[in-house]
Amino acid sequence: MTTAPITPPRDATSASHADAVVVGSLNMDLVVRTPRAPHPGETLRGRHFSATPGGKGANQAVALARLGASTAMVGRIGDDAYGRALLANLDREGIRCRGVQTSADTETGVAMIQVDDTSQNSIVIIPGSNGELSAADVAGADALLAHARLLVCQLEVPLAAVREALARARRHGTTTLLNAAPAMTLPQDVLALVDWLVVNESEAAALSGHPVGHPDEAVQAIRRLRRSGCRRILVTLGAHGVVAADEDGLHHHPAPRVAAVDTTGAGDTFVGGFATALLRGEAVAAAVREGQAAAALAVTRAGAQASIPHRDELAPH
Ligand code: RIB
Repeated sequence: MTTAPITPPRDATSASHADAVVVGSLNMDLVVRTPRAPHPGETLRGRHFSATPGGKGANQAVALARLGASTAMVGRIGDDAYGRALLANLDREGIRCRGVQTSADTETGVAMIQVDDTSQNSIVIIPGSNGELSAADVAGADALLAHARLLVCQLEVPLAAVREALARARRHGTTTLLNAAPAMTLPQDVLALVDWLVVNESEAAALSGHPVGHPDEAVQAIRRLRRSGCRRILVTLGAHGVVAADEDGLHHHPAPRVAAVDTTGAGDTFVGGFATALLRGEAVAAAVREGQAAAALAVTRAGAQASIPHRDELAPH
């Protein structure tokens, strides 16, 4: 494990390399706004429909880029209109996409998202081409991983690809961050390759085997998870804030108070804000606060990528 919070700036980076590499999913989000969740068997009239770019991997890449980090993406799209739209969108955000492959016979991933008037969402994903991202695809992006300072992964692509990315980054001395979302259990060898683990309540519960809802339960989960070899862990608790653990100890960061309209992508925005601040050389506590500030702004707007702020929208701190 590296001892600094993040890999220091590399000596030489070329135009095709980036400080942050995201290995993860790209989805088209098919979003309906409804007054409330429908009951089983019920037909409900929704208020609004949109098809907008999403996917935890792409969302985190956009958050990194908008908040100031040079960013590259490794993933898979289908050879279809959604795939082309997602790629064009990342390109507009200035994200380097040479690591995004196209599957000939499998459609681009989609997420069916329902957001109700209390700002709660429910999401069903169809992985599509995300499910074909392979260890060989990641091996093909080895130069990106070698020149990056930070690798960011999630769990919407196959675990073999995530493991390959983490192992290659570790060999290259590139700091690794795993946002272990969606919730699942993980093998010990994968957790041991993670420098920064970021999880919400349900993800922390899945990994630790115990319920997590409040800061004291997050502390217990962190103590259990640290036995896996991962020492730096952030547990995000929504309105209860964030518990962060690193070599300096455990700290609770209360959440900013906001009136949420849509929490889709809030966790992705937090990861992007936290990671970008680390890349800028901020201390861990300041990086957590930056992630929280970015996510707090994002939940006041609709959409996943549409809600992610740019750096100049964040108040200086
Ligand atoms: O984290 C939010 C994302 O989860 C959405 O954009 C959707 O695509 C799902 O992957």
